Amino acid sequence: MPGDAGRAAAEAGRNDRAAPPRPTMAAAVPDEAQAAAARELATKAASLDELKQIMDAFEGCNLKATAKSLVFADGNPDADLMLIGEAPGRDEDLEGLPFVGRSGQLLDRILAAIGLDRRSAYLANVIPWRPPGNRTPTPHETEICRPFIERQIALSRPKVIVSLGGPSANLLTGSPDGILRLRGTWKSHTTADGTVIPVMPTLHPAYLLRNPAHKKLAWRDFLEVKAKLRELGSL
Ligand code: URA
Ligand code: URA
Repeated sequence: MPGDAGRAAAEAGRNDRAAPPRPTMAAAVPDEAQAAAARELATKAASLDELKQIMDAFEGCNLKATAKSLVFADGNPDADLMLIGEAPGRDEDLEGLPFVGRSGQLLDRILAAIGLDRRSAYLANVIPWRPPGNRTPTPHETEICRPFIERQIALSRPKVIVSLGGPSANLLTGSPDGILRLRGTWKSHTTADGTVIPVMPTLHPAYLLRNPAHKKLAWRDFLEVKAKLRELGSL
């Protein structure tokens, strides 16, 4: 069917979310003030603990008003591998931890398959507050949250990043391409201090749950990640 590839591409980036509603349109002239405030605050954080406190106190993102928790991170901040998803879902919001629902369980199995677990990986999301009803975050919300995840990467200094799903790959690598095109080849993320970190974009585990035939693609991507970690002496 002609529409299949496009639909798969659109879905590949998505989260645990059953048929997320379209995001509301960003304002014609988006308010830059919150994004500027987030940038200034994030830069001030000298440690991950400070960053978490700053984000907890931040009132510039409307997603915080409807979310129960700040979903900051799970796993080991000293790990060489960092996994970055899109946004928390319901389970993550309830527990205050990323990837604890069904897609998190699949992610744990994938990590185990390359000999890792949550003590040897650090997990976070591009957006730290659950969007209401799991809707797609708006571009404006994403721009407000960007400085926080960028600072989180800079402070945890992973040697390798795996981005899960399209939105995370787009934000971290700067490429606008769809995830089915991006996945499987090394890209990079450059931190504010100029450190270049290899990024492997791969399919989102929620997408793999709905499209199990594509697990073999993710499997290939994670073998690349394993090889890279070996090469860097991390495995
Ligand atoms: N999907 C994500 O992108 N992140 C989570 O934490 C859970 C599901
Ligand atoms: N293990 C799984 O369950 N799925 C993958 O995609 C890779 C490893």
